[in-house]
Amino acid sequence: MSQPDAAAAAIVEIDGSRLIDRLRRLAAIGARPDGGLNRQAFTPEEGEARRLVANWARDIGMTAETDAIGNLYLRYVPDGTDGQAPVLGGSHLDTQPAGGWLDGAYGVIAALEAVQAIAEQGVPLARPLEVVAWVNEEGSRFQPGVMGSAWFAGHFDLARAPQIEGSDGEALDHAIVGYKAATPDIEERETPFPIAGLIEAHIEQGPILEREGLKVGVVEGVQGIRWFRVEVLGEAAHAGTTPLGARRDAVLAATRLVQALSAAMADPADVLRFTVGRFVVSPGSPNTVADKVTFTIDMRHPDPHELDKGEATIREICAGQAAPCTAEVTVTETLSPVAFDERVVAAVAGAAEALGIAARRMASGAGHDAANIARVAPAGMIFVPCHGGVSHHPAENADEADLIAGAHVVATAMARLAAR
Ligand code: GLV
Ligand code: MN
Ligand code: MN
Repeated sequence: MSQPDAAAAAIVEIDGSRLIDRLRRLAAIGARPDGGLNRQAFTPEEGEARRLVANWARDIGMTAETDAIGNLYLRYVPDGTDGQAPVLGGSHLDTQPAGGWLDGAYGVIAALEAVQAIAEQGVPLARPLEVVAWVNEEGSRFQPGVMGSAWFAGHFDLARAPQIEGSDGEALDHAIVGYKAATPDIEERETPFPIAGLIEAHIEQGPILEREGLKVGVVEGVQGIRWFRVEVLGEAAHAGTTPLGARRDAVLAATRLVQALSAAMADPADVLRFTVGRFVVSPGSPNTVADKVTFTIDMRHPDPHELDKGEATIREICAGQAAPCTAEVTVTETLSPVAFDERVVAAVAGAAEALGIAARRMASGAGHDAANIARVAPAGMIFVPCHGGVSHHPAENADEADLIAGAHVVATAMARLAAR
């Protein structure tokens, strides 16, 4: 076999204990007393995680670079490949406020292990490899989520940053400056740049693989997502003295809206997913009738027309059922359904098959950075099972053997994609 042919059929061995050790050490940053993680976007904790991962990469001869929004790129450029479009692997380092140790971190550390293993084995490559950590995937502190990859793909305008306020009041532009200043030794890079292929590894965050006893999900696409902010406006008043008929109570109006919306969105087939995950009452005092409630809606469906229909329903209910208050609806994020690149999907499926790992093709219910990158470059994903399908929860967990098997597939698939 010629060198490119050998690499196109490569099987890469990885160091499973190194993978798990790094995941555990990373999980100490932002650890919560309940075993979960709080390492939200652009916080000092995320900065510390970024520094740790960049140093691991530098220790093995990779270079660390960033861009205007703070995405992290760790580059391995074998001789003769400089100037070629790279193959990327990675995910994100931020977590939910009460998140787990694998959502995001797994994809970054699996890709780092993949690149290190490929380099150690001297697998011949025609392209550089990069590990990427996209910023603010979770969207818990700043909306919209999947922000770093959306910006890379031209789907988010950074000029909006001064107007985007975090859940703790910090403006996004200020947060990005502070985050990047914490790692001044990471150099800036021009973006966007051409990407030959991207693989994001992730825990499934759902129950299918575990239920079916499979080790790997070959992800074919991601369903559509639309986020809304609803502001219900009433009037503040004294809780003891104001007659009921004279009140414009924003809490009563908002809870009525949430009930009406969830009834209207109930889908017997359980395909449409509707969630109110944040409900903020103002002024938030026990003895004052609330003048304002802000709540969020996360709506998901694989069919964009169903998302349009859902949006129309949300607008109609909020306009018609908020009286005596008013309700204003703003779309804060819109991600169309995405089908992944067949060549990347085939590389993941082929690697799992070559390694003898039981896999199935599937769609993703969760949103991922790879879905943004798929709009501008060939991209795909691999899922590994997680315990009980639990995620966005401190109890999130997975079998070490499954995490290792998934990284094995990532390494083999990245080497094969970079062979030509
Ligand atoms: C990702 O965290 C999502 O919200 O799907
Ligand atoms: Mn994630
Ligand atoms: Mn998540």
